[in-house]
Amino acid sequence: MNKNNKLEHLAIIMDGNGRWAIKRKKPRLFGHKAGIESLKRTIDACLDFNIKYLTIFAFSTENWSRPQEEVNGIMNIANQFCDNDLQTIINKGVKVLTMGDISRLPDKLEQTLYKVVDKTKNNSKLVLNIAINYGARAEIIRAVNNLLSSGIKECTEKEFESQLYTSGLPDPDLIIRASGENRLSNFMLYQCAYSEFYFPKVHWPDFNKKVIQKAIKVYSKRHRRFGGL
Ligand code: IPE
Ligand code: IPE
Ligand code: MG
Repeated sequence: MNKNNKLEHLAIIMDGNGRWAIKRKKPRLFGHKAGIESLKRTIDACLDFNIKYLTIFAFSTENWSRPQEEVNGIMNIANQFCDNDLQTIINKGVKVLTMGDISRLPDKLEQTLYKVVDKTKNNSKLVLNIAINYGARAEIIRAVNNLLSSGIKECTEKEFESQLYTSGLPDPDLIIRASGENRLSNFMLYQCAYSEFYFPKVHWPDFNKKVIQKAIKVYSKRHRRFGGL
């Protein structure tokens, strides 16, 4: 691995659930459910590969525009994940953070997320940063408004970054988007300045340890220059 290529922070856009389900002649929610199994596999893989930060894009500020039935279904699946799977993940030493405006989520989900963040604050094996009701533009505008309301007229990069959801986290080294789309869809637009990108064709429900292994291999051969030589 090149010396600049320590993979500390992996971010994943978990895309392709719907298409995966449609291919199987199943409703889209079937794909979202299968996506939870992928997420559990991915967390285990990150623990195995000693990755310190995993950010996952679970629901965007634009995803509210989907049919109400799908939005409700996704929220229910998120609730089920919290009820059935989170404790096992926590027991593995995972610290949970959230990124996005969770106050707009259904009450139960919001409360559970608050609790889990507090309960896991001393865990240190892996940080699982869940982007939910997250949009990078909303995040940037929120940061600007926080600074303005503190009376500031001008700010440094450091001061600006302190108002982002990712305050205290390193920038993502590698961003993977499942399902073959080559775009960010409003994900971590500020933090991705020097991120590497990897776009495997695999839909999120088929994502597994092998795909991550391949991504790490590809990443390790990239030459990150950060503007230098
Ligand atoms: C990603 O899968 C999950 C969410 C956006 C919540 P999609 O639901 O976007 O699946 P495709 O892209 O339509 O296949
Ligand atoms: C991005 O995927 C959001 C998540 C994976 C949560 P979308 O499926 O919403 O993005 P577009 O619509 O293809 O750009
Ligand atoms: Mg999609």
